[in-house]
Amino acid sequence: MLSFDDPIPTATPSNTNSPKRISAADKRVINGTTDVNQLVPFKHKWAWEKYLAQCANHWMPQEVNMQRDIEQWKTGQLTEDEMRIVKRNLGFFVTADSLAANNIVLGTYRQITSPECRQFLLRQAFDEAIHTHAYQYIVESLGLDEGEVFNAYNEIKSIRDKDEFLIPFINVLCNPEFKTGTLETDQTLLKSLIVFACIMEGLFFYVGFVQILALGRQNKMTGAAEQYQYILRDESMHCNFGIDLINTIKLEQPEVWTEEFKAEITELFRHAVELEYAYAEDTMPRGVLGLNASMFKEYLRFIANRRMQQIGLEQLFPGVNNPFPWMSEMIDLKKEKNFFETRVTEYQTGGALSWD
Ligand SMILES: [Fe+2]
Ligand SMILES: [Fe+2]
Repeated sequence: MLSFDDPIPTATPSNTNSPKRISAADKRVINGTTDVNQLVPFKHKWAWEKYLAQCANHWMPQEVNMQRDIEQWKTGQLTEDEMRIVKRNLGFFVTADSLAANNIVLGTYRQITSPECRQFLLRQAFDEAIHTHAYQYIVESLGLDEGEVFNAYNEIKSIRDKDEFLIPFINVLCNPEFKTGTLETDQTLLKSLIVFACIMEGLFFYVGFVQILALGRQNKMTGAAEQYQYILRDESMHCNFGIDLINTIKLEQPEVWTEEFKAEITELFRHAVELEYAYAEDTMPRGVLGLNASMFKEYLRFIANRRMQQIGLEQLFPGVNNPFPWMSEMIDLKKEKNFFETRVTEYQTGGALSWD
């Protein structure tokens, strides 16, 4: 097997001892010893298929016309509570997707030894760049105070608490000394993957998604809402990829899934639901858009149950229902269906749109 430190080989003459060819059965999501530069033969075909699906979902923020949003924002057509939702939302997301991108590029990627899984992660990293771009595009379009928005994760408690929960699980992987290969480090990686896919992308994004899409459903901030729809679709794919990654590690290395480990993960879900609920309360001190914070108590429990089941854990909150069934429709969005009818007809690259 080649390592990154080996010189690139020249063509191998057929009569020399060439290294053994890769067998798909030998590939592993982590701790593999097969050549990470050889995409095929596939073992984790689901990762390749998700990579293809994600490429088919490609979109760019500047495809979405923000003119109506700008008018509504600047001519007082939104209530104070609606504006608070938008600002808090952007305050969380402008830095969240940078955390996500850094986690993939500086932490997760080098621990993953399946090239087809790496291929998805490369696409996912670009998606996160597009998301940060989208949030910045909204901030710029609305003329928001950049210092206030980009520092919200330092200055707004409900946002800082969520990030403080996440950051240790990112930092442990970004430590250059970190390496899988023991039960302890394999569980550390798995825990970070679960926190990232099921809690960050799979739970901490959802109060925000519901709020902005609820605005769009009432014909408010439809450009921002359309951007969030695309982001929601991407995040739902990232979350599903992460769940497949987690479940495949469990299959390939069943020793990691101990009772103690499961109990620890269950506690993380319980804590995460509390943090996201505190965020819901902070962003909605009163009922707004037909929503109120207590509806989110049920919704977050519903989502946590679903994520836990997807990775083979017992539900923490049996018997709760989804108070927002319309969200499933949003997740299943096809790009051709322009829900909020805001798309500019001409695709523009290389510059911002002019609104004058
Ligand atoms: Fe993202
Ligand atoms: Fe993501």
